[in-house]
Amino acid sequence: MSDRSAGVPPAVVTSGLPVPGADALAHSRRLTERIRHEIARGNGRIGFDRFMDLALYAPGLGYYAAGTRKFGEAGDFITAPETSPLFARCLARQCHEVLAGIPSGRLLEIGAGSGVLGADLLAELETLGQLPEQYLILEVSPDLRQRQRQTLEARVPHLLDRVHWLDDLPDPGFTGLVIANEFLDAMPVHRFRCAAEQVQEAFVTWRDGRFGQVWDAALSGGLDAAVAAVADGVGPLADGYESEINLRAGSWLRALGERVAAGVLLLIDYGYPRREYYHPQRSRGTLMCHYRHRAHPDPFQWAGLQDITAHVDFTAVADAGEAAGFAVRGYTTQAHFLIGCGLDRILAESNPQDVASHMTLMQGAKRLTLPSEMGERFKVLALARAWDRPLIGFAARDLSDRL
Ligand SMILES: C[S@@+](CC[C@H](N)C(=O)[O-])C[C@H]1O[C@@H](n2cnc3c(N)ncnc32)[C@H](O)[C@@H]1O
Repeated sequence: MSDRSAGVPPAVVTSGLPVPGADALAHSRRLTERIRHEIARGNGRIGFDRFMDLALYAPGLGYYAAGTRKFGEAGDFITAPETSPLFARCLARQCHEVLAGIPSGRLLEIGAGSGVLGADLLAELETLGQLPEQYLILEVSPDLRQRQRQTLEARVPHLLDRVHWLDDLPDPGFTGLVIANEFLDAMPVHRFRCAAEQVQEAFVTWRDGRFGQVWDAALSGGLDAAVAAVADGVGPLADGYESEINLRAGSWLRALGERVAAGVLLLIDYGYPRREYYHPQRSRGTLMCHYRHRAHPDPFQWAGLQDITAHVDFTAVADAGEAAGFAVRGYTTQAHFLIGCGLDRILAESNPQDVASHMTLMQGAKRLTLPSEMGERFKVLALARAWDRPLIGFAARDLSDRL
């Protein structure tokens, strides 16, 4: 099974992918029509970020807004909470620390996927004696909301009355913890190219019966300035250098900054500090697609049936968080975060005589922590407001100075 962080060279072609069934292809054609209409209304092109937005979130049609399986073996990719309950059990210890320090603090999960993380977190927090009064979920997909409810009903039915689905961020005054696992990488991004001292933007067209991409002078507000900020940080980008940039994360953090009065945000995702993200050798960006556990670089294949994602520039997220009134309280790899939260102690409690469950636990620990698996590509960034104590997740190693 593949996670969503694996990189593929842009030259890889998409032939060899499993072919979707007739119903899935019909669904993809409906979404394609929807996007084509918007392209026609936009004088023959739309920004790449808008294409990605529609491909992932067009109501009733986009990848996350319609009923495909997505997560786990029968889906397209696997995430850390789906890989092993160890992820939630460790994270629960970090939640325990913060909730113990913020009386009446609540937990808010953004983009809760199948609901597995919520269920496992609540179960572990109950064991630790630190259940929050409320577990809030902000999930854009109606289909996934339903799946989350089913997961929570099946796994922690006695705790369901603590779970509330929100339509928007909570009202100002929120205190507690905000968790977003693999949420930032699912935000639509702008694709840009440096060409003869000009910043160009990718636009999506419809030609000869399929979507295509053209480059033209950047039109999107803020793109020129954002690329200039990247170049300020890493040095001039070479002519022809292509990458992507997330212009939405800043406004999302500003909105959170207006709602969170005291607490900690844990943003967990695959990505790099800016210097590594916009490294001269990474000259074609990080955009990637996932279909049935195969990674490939063509975002125009089977609209609505495949995931499209980009790595996270954690320097940009940290900067935007600080501009929104948060302070960086830690940045580390997933492996070090889980170890800091007590992974070793949880594993030490496992009974090797119970061979099957011990082996499953050990295999899960390896997938979550090995550098060749999810351990190093995934990072954890903590942003906090009115919280100045050290966090256990960053005790094993804090890499904030690399941001
Ligand atoms: C890649 S999935 C990760 C799911 C889950 N956190 C996990 O780790 O398994 C991204 C999730 O974010 C949700 N999402 C995307 N944009 C969102 C938004 N603006 N507000 C709330 N949820 C969103 C998606 O529907 C999906 O549940």
